[in-house]
Amino acid sequence: MAKLGIASISLLSLFALLSLQFCASDAGLLNRIVASGGQEISGDNGRYVVVFDAGKFMTTVHVFNFDQNVNLLKINGSLEVSHQVQEVLSSYADNPAAVAIDELFLLGEKKYEKILNVIRDLLSESPFLYKSEWVTILPGAKQGVYLWETINYLMGNVGRDYSKTVAVLNQDVATVQMAYAVSLKAAINAPKLPRGEEYITAHHIQSNNYYLYSHGYFPYGAYAVRAEILKYTNDSYNYCMTSGYNEQMNYYGEIYNVRASPSGSSYEKCRENVLQALNLKATCYIKNCTFDGAWNGGGGAGLEKIYLTGGFHNTGADVGITNRDIPSTDLKLLEYEELAKVSCGAKSLEEAHNLFPIVPAFDLPYLCMDLVYVYSILADGFGIDPTEVVTALNTVQYEGSSFRVQWTLGAALELVSSKHTKMEDIPNVLLSSHTSNQVA
Ligand SMILES: *[C@@H]1O[C@H](CO)[C@@H](O)[C@H](O)[C@H]1NC(C)=O
Ligand SMILES: *[C@@H]1O[C@H](CO)[C@@H](O)[C@H](O)[C@H]1NC(C)=O
Ligand SMILES: *[C@@H]1O[C@H](CO)[C@@H](O)[C@H](O)[C@H]1NC(C)=O
Repeated sequence: MAKLGIASISLLSLFALLSLQFCASDAGLLNRIVASGGQEISGDNGRYVVVFDAGKFMTTVHVFNFDQNVNLLKINGSLEVSHQVQEVLSSYADNPAAVAIDELFLLGEKKYEKILNVIRDLLSESPFLYKSEWVTILPGAKQGVYLWETINYLMGNVGRDYSKTVAVLNQDVATVQMAYAVSLKAAINAPKLPRGEEYITAHHIQSNNYYLYSHGYFPYGAYAVRAEILKYTNDSYNYCMTSGYNEQMNYYGEIYNVRASPSGSSYEKCRENVLQALNLKATCYIKNCTFDGAWNGGGGAGLEKIYLTGGFHNTGADVGITNRDIPSTDLKLLEYEELAKVSCGAKSLEEAHNLFPIVPAFDLPYLCMDLVYVYSILADGFGIDPTEVVTALNTVQYEGSSFRVQWTLGAALELVSSKHTKMEDIPNVLLSSHTSNQVA
């Protein structure tokens, strides 16, 4: 139940963004787009795509500009214009439309669709080209696809054979996503699944077709998985926690007991707690599963170069394996394992803090768990050889600018590349809207 409420907040933020930012009369590119109904930026300047990322805690609007051949152009010297709003519900209590959305919180199972429809109505009155299916709750698998597109596009791989592209493994707060390209033959031979999941989908970028394997793993993201791991030890000790730790964690209204054993954390025993949550022995209806019963896509050349993004990079940065100021870092999973052992060996939070001073206080009690988890999901879950070199990716250099890896560019690329958005069909401005949240 709590999860649904959060999604609604995201949508409300989306609304707030539309009404407050777009209709404000002060200068700035976004306002000019709306104020001019798109006229000002049409013509030689190519196409603009607006993507809303209505996340859990804030909404970000991204504007990208493409030329006729779907090459990313700079806007006022930057690869994107983005704007973030951190809004709370009460700020809009006097706004009738906001209240309408607020009341939807109380409705039943169909509430998502109802809320999405409120957003759709608002957008249909905007001056943008917009299709109702563009307002969606972004599934993890789709997010993986968009990230794959973002990264391979920025690296200049789009246009090359699938075997020259790179695979993406991303961790966000609620899900982990894996995406990589497969051959046409592999796509045709993809197994049919009993639950009807579509693991392989066709995508058109610029004038190229790619068949992408993609899967979103919920609840295996950075925060969601803590609850998943703690679920198994709610009535016992959790061996990832430092000696003396005895708290409760509230995760979207569920209470989890977080109790260290008298002997404190242990790398080996924490591994057991973590592997239990990974559900490695789940029924695999098709050959070759990763974990939790998901098909691994069969592998192949598109999986040879693996890029780790999001939480995988960030957890590494907190302990010095990677660095937020450096675009990418080549590493071996063994490095996560080594530091997991060091962190699980700490006898107190103070000792852990002295060992890893930049880990935020909120995350510090979970550091042993987080590091053991990152190592385990990658090595045991996805089967990556711990001695193999993989790359943790933070930003990609593109035409002299640094672009932080994020799914919104992929969404924009796919939109301008798709046939229903051929140049002649496009009035002036495209609007796409997504809500990124954690519905599996
Ligand atoms: C363009 O960039 C400059 C410098 O970063 C900034 O001051 C200005 O407000 C930007 N203009 C628009 C329309 O965003
Ligand atoms: C954990 O145990 C407490 C009682 O100590 C209970 O209230 C709570 O619902 C349990 N949480 C889960 C996720 O099972
Ligand atoms: C499973 O893996 C084997 C060996 O890599 C491969 O030959 C086979 O096609 C795969 N099957 C599926 C359904 O992924």
